[in-house]
Amino acid sequence: MSRTIRVGIVGCGGIARAHVNGYKGNKGVTIVAVYDVRPQAADKLAEETGARVVGSLDEMVKGGDLDAVSICSPPAMHLDNCMPFLKAGIGILCEKPLEVNAGKAGQLAALSRRSRSVFMTAFCHRFHPAIVELKGLIDRDILGKPLLFRNIFGGYLALKGNHRTDPKLSGGGCLADNCAHSVDLFRFLVGDPVAAQAMAGNIMQKLRIEDFGMINLATRGSAAFGEITSSYSLKVCGNFVEWYGTKGTAIVSYWNPGFPDLSYKVEGGNAWKPVDCAKHPDRFVGEVRHFLDCVRRRKQPAITAADGFKAACIIRAIYQSAGKGKRIPVSYR
Ligand SMILES: NC(=O)c1ccc[n+]([C@@H]2O[C@H](COP(=O)([O-])OP(=O)(O)OC[C@H]3O[C@@H](n4cnc5c(N)ncnc54)[C@H](O)[C@@H]3O)[C@@H](O)[C@H]2O)c1
Repeated sequence: MSRTIRVGIVGCGGIARAHVNGYKGNKGVTIVAVYDVRPQAADKLAEETGARVVGSLDEMVKGGDLDAVSICSPPAMHLDNCMPFLKAGIGILCEKPLEVNAGKAGQLAALSRRSRSVFMTAFCHRFHPAIVELKGLIDRDILGKPLLFRNIFGGYLALKGNHRTDPKLSGGGCLADNCAHSVDLFRFLVGDPVAAQAMAGNIMQKLRIEDFGMINLATRGSAAFGEITSSYSLKVCGNFVEWYGTKGTAIVSYWNPGFPDLSYKVEGGNAWKPVDCAKHPDRFVGEVRHFLDCVRRRKQPAITAADGFKAACIIRAIYQSAGKGKRIPVSYR
């Protein structure tokens, strides 16, 4: 497919803007249609993109001019919103978490397996420039085998009026939301965890969902461990990923002044080496670039619906552990 890829956007809120910027940062793509249950939200995104507003998903599909769609609605609508595009074989970039629970994520993954649609779960952090470089260090065996992964995704998100406060729409609080990225990064950089142990609660915002969680993960045979902190309520907070291996350690810093984006130190070395990550595009541009390439070549992306399902399985174990106060095996079924 060498002609321009024509894209639709479903759900015209916050993350839709990041997708639009991702498409704008790539060549050979145009946004042709937008849809939202709130017509004013669709009108606004149409104004920003020059796309037409459609009144339903059916209308978007029946327009007959779509190659791909971004699903940017709240998690509880991902399965329903993907369905018509899966039936029509249209490429799908679906936001995380894949659905509100592992059962629904599993249904979506099963439908995707049976469909001819290219399907990508939008785990954008895999495309964050410093994570791309860290993965390169790991793959070139510069840091050795993984032993410990530490990650904090925090910051303050005032949640009043946000879909995230309704667990029926979001599937949960920060453990379902930010932590979906964290567990995907653990899988990407370390491997599949077999057990989870977690605590969760509300430290600043009294809501029906948690605004704080701490998670430990372990891989098979306790070969490597993870320690994740996830919050909506840490007012002053840097976001970091730390990766400790048998030969060296690396630290990814997300835009913290004074910290390089990525630095590493190997055994016997006496200095932390900063790594230039500037050659990679912004993570949303990189994510969309990979998706468009897969749509053009009709090949499945590096991150499929199966990856979204696996993350949902880990999150299920995390909630079970936080509820029961004990270590829970992760089942990927
Ligand atoms: N990858 C990331 O870093 C990242 C960041 C933020 C959000 N997200 C994910 O993106 C999704 C949306 O989050 P957001 O922050 O943009 O939420 P939001 O509330 O800002 O926007 C969601 C939009 O979807 C619309 N909507 C609701 N039901 C719909 C339906 N049935 N069909 C079509 N549109 C519908 C809403 O009216 C709203 O405009 C969530 O899954 C969230 O976890 C991902």
